[in-house]
Amino acid sequence: MEEEILRVENLCKSFTVEKSFTSKIKQFIKKEEPEKVTALKNVSFSVKEGEILGILGESGSGKSTLARVLMGIIEADSGNASLLGKDILNASGLDRLKILREMQMVFQDPFGSLDPRMNVRQILKEPLNIHKVEPDGGVEDFLIKSIEEVGLTRDALDKYPSQFSGGQRQRIGICRALILNPKLIIADEAVSALDVSVQAQILELLMELKKKRGLSMIFISHDVAVVRQISDRIILLYHGEIVEEVKADSLLTDIKHEYSKKLLSAALSLREGRG
Ligand SMILES: Nc1ncnc2c1ncn2[C@@H]1O[C@H](COP(=O)(O)OP(=O)(O)OP(=O)(O)O)[C@@H](O)[C@H]1O
Ligand SMILES: [Mg+2]
Repeated sequence: MEEEILRVENLCKSFTVEKSFTSKIKQFIKKEEPEKVTALKNVSFSVKEGEILGILGESGSGKSTLARVLMGIIEADSGNASLLGKDILNASGLDRLKILREMQMVFQDPFGSLDPRMNVRQILKEPLNIHKVEPDGGVEDFLIKSIEEVGLTRDALDKYPSQFSGGQRQRIGICRALILNPKLIIADEAVSALDVSVQAQILELLMELKKKRGLSMIFISHDVAVVRQISDRIILLYHGEIVEEVKADSLLTDIKHEYSKKLLSAALSLREGRG
């Protein structure tokens, strides 16, 4: 049986809606509770070894909140999550660092997530330094191998993020996420900012890396076609709740929830409309 990499159980998260100063005063006088928005409601799922789990949902459905909670960037209100059986929501200090080594994120905006003052060598070396990793055969050879694995050449190591195209920058972001050989990658809208042809190349690269390394991935997107192409299994989020969980190849036939049907038919007619 395939090993379960990640297990998420009943995750809940809500945010207080930020109001203007005057509405806050009114709220205080009327003794009203602050208004809350539910970003995640009882979200439970698991990811198996070597599996790509797609998370699909419209804007505001809670996709990034889920990624942020799992990465420890924000705290959940309740629920559990474990990576290879280890609690990841309540870990701190050295335990947290160990978990982060096994779980890395690829972001939507490769420019915003790469420090413009660092060259690629420095960007890629940073996680190695933080985790005190010394690759066999030396750092330089390891970096060359790593950058070539994502389809760039060794001279990229001396360049800065601004010297690359969007697609190349995303390759660097992927290379950095993979440098510690994590078990799980969380990709949040990783191809959404790219042109369609470049999107296809990055999806191809991710699928190739998954196969080669037996990597597991949570692939978050609002784009039905993209999620369907890369995922093995797909979860649909609607207002913070999972409303559907299907195998990627039966996405068009096995869905039950009214919202999922609408989302899919809108996405498909858009594609057909485009020709
Ligand atoms: N820091 C925050 N403070 C207040 N509300 C927030 C915060 N982060 C997210 N939210 C709210 O939580 C809900 C879920 O947001 P989230 O960013 O997770 O959605 P998303 O599915 O990633 O959307 P998108 O496709 O636009 O990236 C939204 O209603 C959003 O306004
Ligand atoms: Mg988001």
